Amino acid sequence: MTKNQKNKIAIVGAGYVGLITGACFAEWGNEVICIDKDKDKIEKLKKGISPIYEPGLAEILQKNIRQGRLFFGQDLGQAVKKSEIIFICVGTPSARGGKVDISFIKEAAQEIARNMAISKIIVTKSTVPLGTARNLVAKIISETWKGSFELASNPEFLREGTAVFDFLNPDRVVIGTDSQNVKRILLNLYQKVKCPKIITTPENAEMIKYAANAFLAMKVSFINEIANLCEGVKADVKEIVRGIGLDKRIGSQFFKAGLGWGGSCFPKDVKGFYQLSKDNGYNFRLLRATIEVNNEQKKRIIEKIKNLFPGQKLGNKTIGVLGLAFKGNTDDIRESPAIEITKKLQKLGANIKVYDPKAMPNAQKALPKIKFAKTPYEVAEDADLLVIATEWEEFKKLNWKKIKNLLKKPIIVDGRNLLNPIKMKKLGFYYIGVGRNI
Ligand code: UGA
Repeated sequence: MTKNQKNKIAIVGAGYVGLITGACFAEWGNEVICIDKDKDKIEKLKKGISPIYEPGLAEILQKNIRQGRLFFGQDLGQAVKKSEIIFICVGTPSARGGKVDISFIKEAAQEIARNMAISKIIVTKSTVPLGTARNLVAKIISETWKGSFELASNPEFLREGTAVFDFLNPDRVVIGTDSQNVKRILLNLYQKVKCPKIITTPENAEMIKYAANAFLAMKVSFINEIANLCEGVKADVKEIVRGIGLDKRIGSQFFKAGLGWGGSCFPKDVKGFYQLSKDNGYNFRLLRATIEVNNEQKKRIIEKIKNLFPGQKLGNKTIGVLGLAFKGNTDDIRESPAIEITKKLQKLGANIKVYDPKAMPNAQKALPKIKFAKTPYEVAEDADLLVIATEWEEFKKLNWKKIKNLLKKPIIVDGRNLLNPIKMKKLGFYYIGVGRNI
């Protein structure tokens, strides 16, 4: 193995991907500066305060700031001048009609170009449409900077909630570049991770990222459809997953049936990929179905709740909702099915109380006129039913006997199949899961 050479790295955009990438590169001994336009965020980060809840992140931020390897700032020009490798990690949100908005990528490329004085390696880590690195970023830079530079696409596969672990222990690293020099430098940068490294073209790297997220979303939509079918034929989705998951060609991961997928990535990436296919003259039917199934999944739980009170309006019902984050272990509420369902129930006139271990501060704006409780027990008190909308481990460990006594009616709609239906029934609950028939 070659000696691990340390690099000077600039990260443009201190969002989820940028922040974790920067902190982990510093953890490997590189000198890293993370740049973001958000002044408050940068001030917090300089003090070692993480702007997001992400297990393990605060610790590596503080350690690497203290040891003089990790810096934060707003001056992209200075960061470009001081660095050898520049990672573009800005957001690529959904634009109108599901297209991908690449305006932040363009801005970053322009700003980088204006500050180039010698050759640099510019790497896109944001999820971007095919051809972005080679066509868009390269073109923008060469319009302003007439010297040489090198490019790569290095997509990221970390998940929120386990982001630091995922970055440090990836299943693979994908490096899309035509340059032997960039290949050598990026392989050296990722030397610490023991996993297959895929060297390919920038276009393939960009496509790998979309295809991975699309497949995972499709897997979740698939199991949600199986769960829906289970409800009609008296089968149990967890048993089906046990049975099919042992087939190595299928695997058992990403087969948790529930309320549908959400978050800052799947919804925008699946829509973006579908649109991208259409723009290239291809109708990606599986992707369209994946999206449709997901939209329906969120409506099904509302129907289940309405069916609990036949002929009655939800206006005089109190519904307790446990969980607001788009999944467990994060405070992120972007495209959260839990938020969408809570809003729908509110629209139907129900009186709602909510609780989430981490996401309540982020949810305050999205859910005005809703009671935010201090504990799950406060949510349960005098409620006509309890909905589990996010799979927080801590909900499993609640005193369910106490909750049963607090509820007006002992009804649980477990939108995440978090609880054991047999135990719940033994405790006297009327339990409804997703595709559970036991
Ligand atoms: C996802 C991918 O898993 C990462 O590999 C990728 O890097 C990231 O998007 C990204 O593009 O940045 P993330 O959005 O953090 O990561 O969350 P996931 O754990 O993938 O979950 C996505 C959604 O699917 C959540 O709403 C989750 O509740 C749902 N899900 C996931 C299920 O309903 N069932 C499952 O079995 C798994």
